[in-house]
Amino acid sequence: MILAIETSCDDTCAAVLDGGRIVVNLISSQAEAHAGFGGVVPEIASRQHLELAAPVIEAALKEAGVALGDLDAVAVTVGPGLIGALLIGVSTAKAIAAPRRLPLIPVDHLQGHVAANFLEPEPLPPPFLCLIASGGHTLLAGVHDHEGHEVLGQTLDDAAGEAFDKGARLLGLGYPGGPALQRLAEDGDPEAFEMPVAMARDPGLDFSFSGLKTALVYRCRELGEEATRERAADLAASYQAAIVHQLTSKLERALKRGNWEAVALGGGVAANGPLREAVSELCERRGVRLKLVPLKLCTDNAAMIGSAARYSTPIAYPDYLGFDAFASGETPLVA
Ligand code: KG4
Ligand code: ZN
Repeated sequence: MILAIETSCDDTCAAVLDGGRIVVNLISSQAEAHAGFGGVVPEIASRQHLELAAPVIEAALKEAGVALGDLDAVAVTVGPGLIGALLIGVSTAKAIAAPRRLPLIPVDHLQGHVAANFLEPEPLPPPFLCLIASGGHTLLAGVHDHEGHEVLGQTLDDAAGEAFDKGARLLGLGYPGGPALQRLAEDGDPEAFEMPVAMARDPGLDFSFSGLKTALVYRCRELGEEATRERAADLAASYQAAIVHQLTSKLERALKRGNWEAVALGGGVAANGPLREAVSELCERRGVRLKLVPLKLCTDNAAMIGSAARYSTPIAYPDYLGFDAFASGETPLVA
């Protein structure tokens, strides 16, 4: 029985897992607190996690009917993410684990997104190719086993979700921008405006989205305020199509190169309807199995952290007391 905690960005999450089965998976979104700013404000995220961590964990344990004494381990996201936000999760996990001499299992957030696919009731066994696209990350992961992943390509600048959020903001939509931009795009023509698809001629598997955002700035400027408002749906549809196109074309290239037989999607952008359709069509065309986990497991959650923890090395008490969170890069060694 594992208690898992995830606080890397703007969702305070706690889950209880019994092996690969989710007993409870709670997510307290801070979206409202950040909405007025058009993006996540790190300081606000930390303060919200501080207030929410204990009640969310308590609620998860209560709903699971599990007492702290029933736990075998505590798993927690240690990075990458917002350092202040991560520290709240790591400190809370230590504070729960240490008095009970429980092992602590540090989990990499991105491996968490990969591990969402290992959860019951239909776990996807490796090997598979995983596209993770969220507000903070965009990468193609080669998943050869349960323990880790190989980064085949990643964004060189903005994440795909960030591109959605920034585009939405330019079009006067709220935060998070992805769902709002998708809704607006439903009434638009994806071919109305030409948008650049970056990295198309680059032979690698990396992504880039910052030029697209700049292109939208210029289109809006050329159109002027009134025409931008009138053509907002066409702008949104064209912008979204360029993001989806870049994601799926790199995915196809990786599929061809690696002879992968299965594909999985993760991260908040995996909720995007046109992306799901395009990836489904691609997988069908190439005769590849596609695994789409439920949306609640695509966006940040603690069940995926508990899932990754099952295949990670636990740290025994008291060795983890010096363990720290990290904002980016590799997991640091235990101090
Ligand atoms: O995985 P996630 O919940 O948190 C991060 O780790 O970032 O992803 C959030 C991101 C946001 O940028 C949001 O705009 C985007 O996922 N997103 C979407 C959709 N739903 C969420 N983007 C496009 N279309 C959607 N339907
Ligand atoms: Zn994430």
